[in-house]
Amino acid sequence: MAAGDLTQSEEEVAAVYDVTADLYANQFPSTEPEQQIDVAMVAYFAALLPSDHKDVLDAGCGAGRMLPVLVAAGCRPVGVDLSPEMIRRAHQDHPEFETRVGTLTALPYPDGSFDGAFAWYSTIHLPDDRLSAALAELRRVLRPGGHVLVAFQTGRGVRDVAHGIRRHGLDVILLRHHRTPSQVARMLQNHEFEERARLVRGPVPPESDGQAVLIARARTVTDR
Ligand SMILES: C[S@@+](CC[C@H](N)C(=O)[O-])C[C@H]1O[C@@H](n2cnc3c(N)ncnc32)[C@H](O)[C@@H]1O
Repeated sequence: MAAGDLTQSEEEVAAVYDVTADLYANQFPSTEPEQQIDVAMVAYFAALLPSDHKDVLDAGCGAGRMLPVLVAAGCRPVGVDLSPEMIRRAHQDHPEFETRVGTLTALPYPDGSFDGAFAWYSTIHLPDDRLSAALAELRRVLRPGGHVLVAFQTGRGVRDVAHGIRRHGLDVILLRHHRTPSQVARMLQNHEFEERARLVRGPVPPESDGQAVLIARARTVTDR
């Protein structure tokens, strides 16, 4: 990536997560960075899925720390992530789950494979055009009436958020695309999702940004 560029390719993002996979997985084996209210949104998302329709794609699962959280909420999750090293850690730390390498912008699953699509801080490195492609893919792999959850840091603009990683001696840049909840809600609407729930909260130290979790339902033919 050239200095001043405002996007990174998927290969560049994967390379950053590859070198930080162990650091990330050791630092956050479970929901250490989350607030109770964030985890409550995971439970609410799971509760919105009908009891016999709990197949969930953890889309951008990283090293898999949210897979047991989804199970505890009653879901049957599988995971996909861009970074082969993150997936290696997911296999190591959570061998009971099926996880594989793949991108949100071309998901390796047939249409209508899941009841829920769970994107927990995994769309944050996508510029708008690729976020739009990812939402279309999440929509495609959902069954009619399925639900999507998108969690992200709020705000505007693009920031390099790798200072914490560089403190560990790794010379990397990682760009994060900040959006307002309304911007993401509008994009979900453009992809035939109707909003069902929204959490917006201010930063809790050591966070430097507000956080949002949006849950939306895929419209069906009978909704139109
Ligand atoms: C901040 S981490 C969050 C990981 C996990 N959801 C968690 O909460 O621990 C962002 C993750 O998204 C993944 N990611 C980024 N862009 C992606 C893409 N286009 N497709 C799939 N995964 C992606 C990264 O490899 C990384 O594992």
